[in-house]
Amino acid sequence: MSRFPKRAAWALALCLGVAGGAAIAQQQKAPAGKVGLGRVALPEEIKAWDIDVRPDGLGAPVGKGTVKQGEELFLAQCASCHGEFGEAVGRWPVLVGGRGSLKHDNPDKTIGSYWPDASTVFDYIRRAMPFGNARSLTDDEIYSITAFLLQMNEVVKEDFVLSNENIGKVKMPNVGGFFEDDREKSEKHFWSKACVTNCKTGEVKVTGRARVVDVTPDGKSGPKVE
Ligand code: HEC
Repeated sequence: MSRFPKRAAWALALCLGVAGGAAIAQQQKAPAGKVGLGRVALPEEIKAWDIDVRPDGLGAPVGKGTVKQGEELFLAQCASCHGEFGEAVGRWPVLVGGRGSLKHDNPDKTIGSYWPDASTVFDYIRRAMPFGNARSLTDDEIYSITAFLLQMNEVVKEDFVLSNENIGKVKMPNVGGFFEDDREKSEKHFWSKACVTNCKTGEVKVTGRARVVDVTPDGKSGPKVE
């Protein structure tokens, strides 16, 4: 018997093996191909999404705006919902006031009373406002409106000019009200003292479950629910 078919089979197997290996290597090179879905995002696509402005001003686009310009824009594009003075029309969100109310039963959380960073005001408006027409304002317009809202909240003076250079330096009234979650430390005593008296030592044995011991009142004995 000729040895040819056997050789051909080997060659074919080798080819398939090499091709398969190459395909795997190819997939490993491109991250988006790992699961065989999608494609790598283009730099301009990433740029379009990458619009966050950090508290220290990093990411703020070049631009500036005055309180005065902001007032005009706010009256034209925002006041119909948020009120001429940011006091809100009806149940739309209040943007001004509420200082010192955070410890009350019914706190007024506004830019001035609650928000810790000016960059968040800029960032939020840039992403989401005016409601229903988001992303329609230019960067300079957003700087102006942010400046106006800061002025109405008595954070800056009337002649203030907000820009990418100083947005990270504006000090908000409630900046100290936010801190890293420290409950692991500050509430440690609380968690380790869950049991106060006559505490059981050793392993706890579950003796019954609500479902089984029937603690849910039945229709006759429970309160009447309309
Ligand atoms: C059609 C009504 C409407 C208009 C006009 C409007 N907003 Fe708003 N605004 C809203 C609503 C609704 C929310 C709450 C959205 C949410 O929580 O998802 C909001 C939320 C906000 C907040 C956050 C409030 C908070 O404390 O959470 C800011 C800041 C704001 N708007 C600014 C503006 C600015 C600046 C303009 C004008 C450029 C504007 N809005 C125009 C309805 C409006």
